[in-house]
Amino acid sequence: MKPLKVALLGCGVVGSQVVRLLHEQADDLAARVGAPLELAGVAVRRLGRKRDADVDPALLTTDAEALVTRDDIDIVVEVIGGIEPARSLIVAAMEKGKSVVSANKALLAEDGATVHRAAKSGGADLYFEASVAGAIPLLRPLRESLAGDHVTRVLGIVNGTTNYILDKMDSTGASFSDALEEAQALGYAEADPTADVEGFDAAAKAAILAGLAFHTRVTAADVHREGITEITAADVASAKAMGYVIKLLAICARSEDGRSVGVRVHPAMIPRTHPLAGVREAYNAVFVEAESAGQLMFYGKGAGGAPTASAVLGDLVAVARNRLAGTRGPDESTYAELAVHPMGDT
Ligand code: HSE
Repeated sequence: MKPLKVALLGCGVVGSQVVRLLHEQADDLAARVGAPLELAGVAVRRLGRKRDADVDPALLTTDAEALVTRDDIDIVVEVIGGIEPARSLIVAAMEKGKSVVSANKALLAEDGATVHRAAKSGGADLYFEASVAGAIPLLRPLRESLAGDHVTRVLGIVNGTTNYILDKMDSTGASFSDALEEAQALGYAEADPTADVEGFDAAAKAAILAGLAFHTRVTAADVHREGITEITAADVASAKAMGYVIKLLAICARSEDGRSVGVRVHPAMIPRTHPLAGVREAYNAVFVEAESAGQLMFYGKGAGGAPTASAVLGDLVAVARNRLAGTRGPDESTYAELAVHPMGDT
C-alpha cells in the first residue's frame, strides 16, 4: 500500500515525541491505518539545533509554507502553537485538501471560525484532540459519542501546571514560585508560564470545550478568567485546615432555556471528599453532564510531551483512516449563535 505522507510543523517537546512514536510504532500504525505513515518533512524554526528527536536531517526545513503545500503531502501535524504562522499554514494545507491534526489550543480558541471554515471549503479533515487536556480523549466524545445528547455542563481541571503547583503547595507547603519552578523543569508549563498561572491556557481550553459541547462559538476572550498567582501558601494551608483543597476550575454551563452559555475559569475551594480533590500532580479531570448520559468523568495526564503526542497520534490514525475511506470527521463550521455570558446564569 502506498504510504501516507506526513508533514510535521514543530519539533519541540510534543513534536519530538510524535517523531519517536511514528518511528517506534511504524508497523502497528500501518496495520491500524491500512497504509504506512511516512514522515516526509519536519518544519523547524532553526536548522542545526540539538533536538531530542532522532530526525533524519534531510527531512528538516525552515520553509514550512513550501512543506505544507507540497503535492505529495497528505497530512499536516501542527505542534508549533500560537496564532501565526500556524493559522496561515493550516489554512493553506486544508485549502489544498490536506488533512490536519493540530494541538493548537490558542488558535482554536481565538479563531476557530477561520480554521473550521477552511476545513469545510477544502473538504479537509481537522482533528485537534491534543489541544485540550493532553492525553485524555475528551473532544472526540463531545464531537462524536455525545452528538445525540444535550450536554448541559462541562467542569474540571484542564491545566496540568497549575494543578501541579496547587498540589505541591497543598501536599508539601511549598511556595508558589518553588512549585512553579518544579512544574517548568518537568516540561508541563507553557513556554511563557503566565499562560498557565494566569489562567489563559485553561480559558482557551474552556472555550474549545464549550464550543464543542454546546455547538456554538466561544472564544477565549468570552471566558471570565482568574489565575492562581495571588494564592499564597497560607491560603492553601487554611483551606486544608478547613477540609478543602484549592483547584483551578474551568466551568462551562448551558442555561436552562438553552439560549446562552457561561464559561469561566477561577480557583475554587473543593471539599477534600470531592473526586476533583483527588486529582494530583499534572493530572487533569473533567466532568461532562448530559441530559441522557448523565454524569461522565474523564481523567488522565493533561500535559507533557508523550501524553500529548498520544492524542496527536490518535488523531493521525483517525485522519489517515478517513483519507483512505474518502470520508472526513465532523464538520464544525456550522454552529448556533448563543449568547455567551462570562459567568453564565447557573
Ligand atoms: N501548559 C499546559 C498545562 C500544557 O499545564 O496543562 C498542556 O496544554
